[in-house]
Formats: sequence, C-alpha cells, structure tokens
Amino acid sequence: LSTTEVDLSPIQVGQAVTVVWRGKPVFVRRRTEQEIAAARAVSLSELRDPQTDEQRVIRPEWLVMIGVCTHLGCVPLGQKPTDPKGEYGGWFCPCHGSHYDTSGRIRRGPAPSNLAVPPYAFTSDTQIRIG
Ligand code: FES
Repeated sequence: LSTTEVDLSPIQVGQAVTVVWRGKPVFVRRRTEQEIAAARAVSLSELRDPQTDEQRVIRPEWLVMIGVCTHLGCVPLGQKPTDPKGEYGGWFCPCHGSHYDTSGRIRRGPAPSNLAVPPYAFTSDTQIRIG
C-alpha cells in the first residue's frame, strides 16, 4: 500500500505507536506538554540538522516520523514506556549511540540528520493518512 491510515483516537497523551508505511516503521507519538515545550525551547544553533519543531509537525501534539536512524538504518528505541529515550528524552539508537530529542532531531552521536518526517495529512481530528 502506498498510503497508511492511522486512527489516533486510542493513543493517550505520552503514548506512542509504530505503524508500517511502505515497509518502513513510522513512529507516531502523542506528545506531552512538557515534550512539546522542550522541543520548542531549543535554539537552532544547538542543532546539527537545524529545523524548528514547528517545521516538523502539523499539530504540536502529534509527532510523526520515519523510525529509521539516519546513521545506518537501525530502528531507534523510545516507543515503548520502558525503552531508553536517550539524553534528550526522545529516542535512542542502540546501534552506535545516536540520541534524538522530543522533536526527533539528532542531538548526539553519529547520525547526520533528524529522523525524517513522511508526507502525511489529517483526514479528521483523529485520523491521519501517511503517504
Ligand atoms: Fe543508529 Fe548507527 S544506526 S547510531
């Protein structure tokens, strides 16, 4: 399938789900107010791949990204409550130690760029279509 529909209604604040789009994992996280605030407090000069949080989301509560580390393609940890989330509270790639923040931006480790945001749109308040 070239598109993937995701029903957002069961996802609680602070929870994340992983769906598949074109054979790749896509991370959907319903961010907390604290996660959004942390992402927005970062200045671009601190970032290896400078992007504002606003550029990476359509609605601040919902972060949607391809769950493939931009170093060598492992799937970062951070989706499950018990997963390590790295030093910036987002995701941690255990393969070579890349740390991503609550906007999925690379903050430490060998990955060259932020976790990619796929094309997606809200088809209702509680549904997105990826692709
Ligand atoms: Fe993620 Fe190397 S593949 S740090």
